[in-house]
Amino acid sequence: MLDDVIEKLKKEFIDKLKEIKDEPSLLNLKGEFIGRKRGKVKDLFKELGKAEPQERGRLGQAINSLKTFIEKSLSEKEKEIKSKKVKTDSEDYTYPGFRIERGRKHLLQQVMDDVMDIFLKMGYHIETGPEVETDYFNFTALNIPEEHPARDEHDTFYLDYEKGKDKYLLRTHTSPVQIRTMLKKKPPLKIIVPGKVFRKDEPDDTHSPVFHQLEGLVVGEGISFADLKGTLITFLKALFGDDIQVRFRPSFFPFTEPSAEVDVLLKGEWLEILGCGMVDPAVFSEVGIDSEKYTGFAFGLGIDRITMVKYRVKSLRYFYDNDLRFLRQF
Ligand code: DAH
Repeated sequence: MLDDVIEKLKKEFIDKLKEIKDEPSLLNLKGEFIGRKRGKVKDLFKELGKAEPQERGRLGQAINSLKTFIEKSLSEKEKEIKSKKVKTDSEDYTYPGFRIERGRKHLLQQVMDDVMDIFLKMGYHIETGPEVETDYFNFTALNIPEEHPARDEHDTFYLDYEKGKDKYLLRTHTSPVQIRTMLKKKPPLKIIVPGKVFRKDEPDDTHSPVFHQLEGLVVGEGISFADLKGTLITFLKALFGDDIQVRFRPSFFPFTEPSAEVDVLLKGEWLEILGCGMVDPAVFSEVGIDSEKYTGFAFGLGIDRITMVKYRVKSLRYFYDNDLRFLRQF
């Protein structure tokens, strides 16, 4: 009689096992049949006491082998469920990940930041001004009146817009921010002005209708040309290295007097880097600064030009083509 019960239980187990598709129901099935306290197999062992004494040994073995069968089947089913899980899961954690590309600053911005860092360490403050400027700030206030030949060198993009008598244009240099700052703040002043400037130039290896400048202006009592030289030599050595040579050449700018251009000797070649000079008294009088009391110096450097020299870039076009093969090199 117990033989039949054992056989029935085995069948019941096999049928139920076929329906099992996940781990939680597998665990339930395990508890139902071979649970330590209340499993159906445990109950069979209790029945053993009611069997004929000479049958007990054989029946005990039969129950034990059912238990073993159940344990083995359960662990096989468990393996099967686990292997299927990996295959059917929508996310495969063993699949190689995607590489996340990190962006970087454009080379011109890197150089602009390096240049600004040097001046910030020397105690300069940053000022900015509008890219759409008036004729007055861009030229007249800087001692470049109408009909002045210096205007021809700045091939200007004029805007189709006038307000009063003033014409609007895209600024051709960052120097108008000198004027805006001096009108707004009292000396002493020590500022740098980073920014985009625009000229109607045909693009080629050394020209671009948009490029970048960094303007500098220092105004105070007793500021001399020696301060100008010391500042710019310190800056150029910080940027290009201590072993470079620097040369000041006399030049002309309407808003500085005297004026100079500065060259740097790199690998046997003199390269023009910037323009500078002592602020012209005519500029001070335009903004109401007493030129008997105050003096000052100013400078303007071309960031694109410096970048070409420093990184040996042959053409300005590379900066504006946005070709990643170029940009990723820096
Ligand atoms: N604004 C000049 C230019 O774009 C550069 C320059 C020269 C700026 C001399 C200055 C300066 O402040 O003192 O050509």
